[in-house]
Amino acid sequence: MKTLQFKNGDKLPIIGLGTWKSKPGEVFKAVLWAIESGYRHIDCAAIYDNEKEVGKALEEAMKSNIVRREELFITSKLWNSNHRLEDVQPALTQTLQDLRLDYLDLYLIHWPISFKPGVGFAQTREEFYTYSDVPLRQTWQGMEQCVKADLTRHIGVSNFNISKLKEIIGNAKITPEMNQIELHPFLPQNKLVDFCKKNNILVTAYSPLGSGDRAASIKKPDEPSLMEHPVIEQLASAKGASPAQILIAFSIHRDIAVIPKSVNKERIAQNLASIDISLDEEDMKSLSQIGTNYRFVDGSFFTGVKSPYVLKDLWETE
Ligand code: A2P
Repeated sequence: MKTLQFKNGDKLPIIGLGTWKSKPGEVFKAVLWAIESGYRHIDCAAIYDNEKEVGKALEEAMKSNIVRREELFITSKLWNSNHRLEDVQPALTQTLQDLRLDYLDLYLIHWPISFKPGVGFAQTREEFYTYSDVPLRQTWQGMEQCVKADLTRHIGVSNFNISKLKEIIGNAKITPEMNQIELHPFLPQNKLVDFCKKNNILVTAYSPLGSGDRAASIKKPDEPSLMEHPVIEQLASAKGASPAQILIAFSIHRDIAVIPKSVNKERIAQNLASIDISLDEEDMKSLSQIGTNYRFVDGSFFTGVKSPYVLKDLWETE
């Protein structure tokens, strides 16, 4: 498996299994199938509300000697309600307990958005903290303490734009080592990826297939389809591949880690086999210039009249 490398030489398998939207009752099998078929990188988060079941699968895979802990790369993410300095380490400790692990390979700040403790999804103005209540650098300090306490090998962020990254870098002892962002041919994120590469920050692509299984409440009725886009379909048939494999290969060819979610045994294996799809310069050009610009996870659920945050806190226009 192709890997990306951290500054200290640690390696990240470029394809990982996504677990966002994988339901309890499904995710145990999905993680086991993934590990059995050769995945060594699993992407998790506390807010996915399935870490306990992922943990059972990890334990099962290790107990039955399919894999050793040191061969796995496990990522999780700090939820918005634990951004205060004193809340970061306890949140990671809970995640480790749920995942049945002693340490994570990578821990990320999930969003640059802060809720009050105990709030799952803020609905009223009172349930949010602002940047002056809890500055991002305070949360980052908590993340650095997690590395010092040997609870995670690496730390990074998710859904951070260039100005938010600069804010962290300017105040950090450890610079963020990863930015996990939505990325696919409808949203190639060229500017942000260039900034990350120049600053030694690795990138992971989430929603690489367009996350068609999102809840209706965070989906627009007229969304364009990534997997049914004619450019993707044509490339897929020319390469004898599936549209999903073309989309996964798009990130791999840019040295960007990619975490397709699936709970289906065949599709889990098919997605890993994307590593063998080769795309030439012409293919990459036609994918990058596909002509549709679209963000599926638009963050509007964190903004609006009841929130102190605006979309500019999340996304810079390309
Ligand atoms: P399933 O879990 O039933 O396989 P994303 O990774 O962008 O969030 O997309 C996840 C969605 O894509 C899920 O609905 C998942 O369904 C589906 N999916 C995953 N792999 C494939 C594949 N190889 N072909 C078609 N759909 C896929």
